[in-house]
Amino acid sequence: MKPIQVGLLGIGTVGGGVWTVLSRNEEEITRRAGRAIKIAAVADKDLERAQRLTAGKARVTADAFEVVRDPEIDIVVELIGGYTVAKDLVLAAIGNGKHVVTANKALLATHGNEIFAAAQEKDVMVAFEAAVAGGIPIIKALREGLTANRIEWIAGIINGTSNFILSEMRDKGLAFAEVLKEAQARGYAEADPTFDIEGIDAAHKLTILSAIAFGIPMQFDKAYTEGISKLTREDIRYAEQLGYRIKLLGITKKTDEGIELRVHPTLIPARRLIANVEGVMNAVLVHGDAVGPTLYYGAGAGALPTASAVVADLVDVTRLHTADPEHRVPHLAFQPDRLAATRILPMEEVVTSYYLRMQVLDRPGVLADITRILADLAISIEAMVQREPAEGEDQVDIILLTHRTREKHISAAIAKIEALPVVSGKVTRIRIEELGKN
Ligand code: HSE
Repeated sequence: MKPIQVGLLGIGTVGGGVWTVLSRNEEEITRRAGRAIKIAAVADKDLERAQRLTAGKARVTADAFEVVRDPEIDIVVELIGGYTVAKDLVLAAIGNGKHVVTANKALLATHGNEIFAAAQEKDVMVAFEAAVAGGIPIIKALREGLTANRIEWIAGIINGTSNFILSEMRDKGLAFAEVLKEAQARGYAEADPTFDIEGIDAAHKLTILSAIAFGIPMQFDKAYTEGISKLTREDIRYAEQLGYRIKLLGITKKTDEGIELRVHPTLIPARRLIANVEGVMNAVLVHGDAVGPTLYYGAGAGALPTASAVVADLVDVTRLHTADPEHRVPHLAFQPDRLAATRILPMEEVVTSYYLRMQVLDRPGVLADITRILADLAISIEAMVQREPAEGEDQVDIILLTHRTREKHISAAIAKIEALPVVSGKVTRIRIEELGKN
């Protein structure tokens, strides 16, 4: 059978990895797919690099639109990134009846609904395993492996850069800014590092996971996003002393009131497996009603791990290429006409527990004032630590862990605590998740 013809848009880090994996494992991949998968055309602005990597084995062009128009191409692999040209290219490829494989989480989280509708209309597949957690086959697991379950919640370390930064801050006692520089020097961070450190990249990925888990449209605009740039090494140390690690988690949970969709630094018990995921590695914990907790771990970025996911999608599309479109796995795991309109909970309505750190004057009655504010809002304290004041200082750090309460109540308490004359500066609030059954 004639090899399936692939048009590769972008032969940078991941594109180069795709080229390497397809060449290196050609025989095994062909045995699995049932026919050879050939990159017939490559589009890249850097023609010299594209020519060097492909060594005359594929047609090279600087015009990506030429590839998506080429009638010989069956599958377009979009590895350009961003929302603008990438969106036009993906929609043009679909419009021309081509299947699409993409690693573009930003594009899917923000324009996925339009893209999947267009793909549905044209009976083509859009595959995106590489968009979430790099080489971990989490999309496949959620969409197919766990299809018997009601998914209850997902909690994931889905941004390697921020996990690397937090690991280094904890291990070496370094400040955030110092470690960020190292992450950038090592090439982990996205082109715009704010996407990594402010939780935006994680929120893109979480939006996709949530859509597949609960059968809802992509709703990135409703995700609550808070990054790690304000975390201090003191909070990391205090958390550790209390038996917790701080991780940037993407959490999505189905509750009776709606779906939680939130990314923020989170205290998690140090004894949990996921708390021990260090450096740039990713991990996703999925809780299904039948299976219970399942954990997926692996490299969330990098040329070959991400290529592993892209090529897996190429094999999937090759296998299903001739199948009746009605019998393919739906893009978002649920049949497109059965997506739910379940609301996304605003952050103020989320219920969880909290770590609060505040700096207060070491005087009689201060603690009583603070606990009175919490009691009036029905917030129950689970644990409390007061650090000894440093030599000659009259300011002390107080750390409180609360029981579960609604976010709006904790926000109200924080505002009142900050207004007390004995409290200096802002109260640090970090959410806590036990990651047990609920
Ligand atoms: N910049 C991302 C991360 C990798 O740090 O995890 C690609 O998604």
